[in-house]
Amino acid sequence: MSDTHHITVLLHEAVDALDIQPSDIIVDATLGAAGHSLLIAEHLGKGGTLVALDADEKAVAQAREKFMKVAPNVRLWNANFREIGPLLEQIGYDKVDGILADLGWRQEQFGGDDSKGGGKGFSFRVDEPLRMTYGDPESYAFTAHDIANAWEADSIATILRGYSEEKYAWKIAQAIVAARAEGVIETSGQLARIIEAAVPASYRHGGIHPATRTFQAMRIAVNDELGALETFIAQALAHLAPKGRLAIITFHSLEDRMVKHAFRQAAADGKGDVVTKKPIIPSDDEVAQNPRARSAKLRVFSRNDS
Ligand SMILES: C[S@@+](CC[C@H](N)C(=O)[O-])C[C@H]1O[C@@H](n2cnc3c(N)ncnc32)[C@H](O)[C@@H]1O
Repeated sequence: MSDTHHITVLLHEAVDALDIQPSDIIVDATLGAAGHSLLIAEHLGKGGTLVALDADEKAVAQAREKFMKVAPNVRLWNANFREIGPLLEQIGYDKVDGILADLGWRQEQFGGDDSKGGGKGFSFRVDEPLRMTYGDPESYAFTAHDIANAWEADSIATILRGYSEEKYAWKIAQAIVAARAEGVIETSGQLARIIEAAVPASYRHGGIHPATRTFQAMRIAVNDELGALETFIAQALAHLAPKGRLAIITFHSLEDRMVKHAFRQAAADGKGDVVTKKPIIPSDDEVAQNPRARSAKLRVFSRNDS
């Protein structure tokens, strides 16, 4: 993709799913480039509130000026959505009317074909320090640098299989461990070259870059993305006001499965209803305009009225 600007996925579908009333308190747990948040703000009146957060400090800094002229009260936070419960309690909103999460990352955080990367080592296309943390690396248990330089091959292969179904998981894991003999693996570019050299030529000429799955798996592991999502869903459900809506857009099957099961369980526990028996997916037009949308799935849960 040569356009490195984020295009919001399922914009109207996700905002409509929140069923916003002008005086609602709505939370956008993944502010990003503020596409959803700006449309949410349009639905809210002066008495309404938008609380928007993002783990990436740059997203929050860049969004501030976009909200200068909107009607509702807007509160922006640099925070991880796994902390949504404590955050809402701390700022005084015990119950809210709607919560949206649009998972994953923005194009500019990864760097596109011809762009500079986002500086975090997410992209195999640019040479940056290997890190892959959305927030401050000091607050993470480990970074991609640790995986590449300190983990055993078995553990590396396990995350490659589990988080991205990489079919050459073992070959790649062994190659990473072997490459340490040449020195420390410092950058995303170095790691990408090690992966390219480890896989069969046919894989190098396939539909996706051979490092795509390895980078995805490391990113999920470093950021504990599935753990964060599980915690987020539980806390979000606990903070929904009667009839409040939780809408989540996912981009891969592991996440979608987690959302589907959590919503079903919440319904079985009598907390409310799954609004989307089948996930809402982007139209053909949207996918044609934004290929990144092709794997998106939106699921919506509605809290019961007590
Ligand atoms: C797909 S983008 C959201 C785009 C946004 N909906 C828009 O319309 O511009 C996902 C955003 O979620 C953020 N993010 C990912 N994981 C997060 C987490 N655990 N907590 C908070 N933000 C997170 C990323 O930094 C990224 O900016």
